[in-house]
Amino acid sequence: MNDNGRKNSTKGRLEQIGPEDSLCGPDCACFQDQHEQLPEAKLKSDLGPIYLDHAATTPVRPEVREAMLPYFSETFGNASSIHLFGQKARKALEDARAIVAACIGAEAKEIYFTSGGSESDNLAIKGVVHAYQDKGRHLITSKVEHHAVLNCCKHLEAEELDVTYLPVDRFGVVKFEALEEAIRPDTILISVMLANNETGTLQPVSAITELAEKSGVPVHTDAVQAVGKIPVDVNELGVDLLSLSAHKIYGPKGIGALYIRTGTRIDPLFHGGHHERKRRPGTENVASIVGLAKAMELAKEEMQTRSACLGELRDHLQHRIQERIEHICLNGHPENRLPNTLNVSFKFVEGESLLLSLDMCGIAVSTGSACTSGALEPSHVLQAMGVDPAAAQGSIRFSFGHSNTDDEIDFVVESLAEIVARLRRMSPLYAEK
Ligand SMILES: Cc1ncc(COP(=O)(O)O)c(C=O)c1O
Repeated sequence: MNDNGRKNSTKGRLEQIGPEDSLCGPDCACFQDQHEQLPEAKLKSDLGPIYLDHAATTPVRPEVREAMLPYFSETFGNASSIHLFGQKARKALEDARAIVAACIGAEAKEIYFTSGGSESDNLAIKGVVHAYQDKGRHLITSKVEHHAVLNCCKHLEAEELDVTYLPVDRFGVVKFEALEEAIRPDTILISVMLANNETGTLQPVSAITELAEKSGVPVHTDAVQAVGKIPVDVNELGVDLLSLSAHKIYGPKGIGALYIRTGTRIDPLFHGGHHERKRRPGTENVASIVGLAKAMELAKEEMQTRSACLGELRDHLQHRIQERIEHICLNGHPENRLPNTLNVSFKFVEGESLLLSLDMCGIAVSTGSACTSGALEPSHVLQAMGVDPAAAQGSIRFSFGHSNTDDEIDFVVESLAEIVARLRRMSPLYAEK
């Protein structure tokens, strides 16, 4: 095993493939179809498994793990206890809060620890909606948000809240005129993500907050994919609420934070003790909070060099795919995007088949379609961008991390070229084109 838990051999890879390794279960027609089509002789790499799914999650960095370890069994006190054990845990908690705040230009008292991005999004949206219900019942978000935001808004619609879902252009950028038209006297929140998790496209959040300020509407941004990859400063962005999560930046899973600007009203989701200034009750997960702070600190320190390397890997993959494979299209903004994400549609191919075949070669990526009851649904993000549904079904998200190399990218391109050609040979649509 190397630092990132990557094994140095692909041996036994085929035998390991099972329902728990793939998106679909063995009862799903899609799963059965894909596995029947697998080639006898699979491509092999002596590079070991190649992980290109860092937008889904990342391994915990050794430095982060080291920082967390003392808080499991040595400094294990409850941060609310007033004895020495509790005080030591409290100190670690408050130090971590100060680090997280400094990383995004906030004050320590504006940081609230949560269980991750999904909870932060829910707390921001439901919390503001409930606190401002005297002012209005209208929310604005975009069609390309993560499901943590979209499904939260859908839930609120069932509670008779009026939600406007802003359209986006072909690059996935929110249409600004639509936002201008959508703001009403009863609008109580605008929630637009900073960076999209499927395409990496960045939203003009500073321009959105400038517009919202004129109407006195608070703005929330889901910065789960952006933090640690691009500079994020709550004052430069002008946001009132910002969600972040540790496991996207080499921190532990199940921990995140919500930034709440001083003066923003918010109701808690849960009721319990006085933790997190009564906005998020529950005994604090000190070890994970320390891990989040360490991961953010390292990401900030190394951002310039790391982002440049990630951008080079992304561009290398993009150019090699463009050279080697025809009938492809790139999804997302060509410039205003995260350095570590590349979304490509391979026409006349199903993304799911491509993903499973790549997995057989030891390459982990993600698709832009989801298998729902055996049917492939193109992603809501690509649909909103107006990507042709057939092309959207053949879309793959590659997301890079510190450990990826140019050699890996070259192997991925060769594997892709062979797999795409094989899948296209079986496609009636390709034959007809
Ligand atoms: C943009 C975005 N928001 C929210 C989340 C949810 O974060 P978490 O997994 O920490 O709940 C994710 C995770 O993929 C994400 O990409």
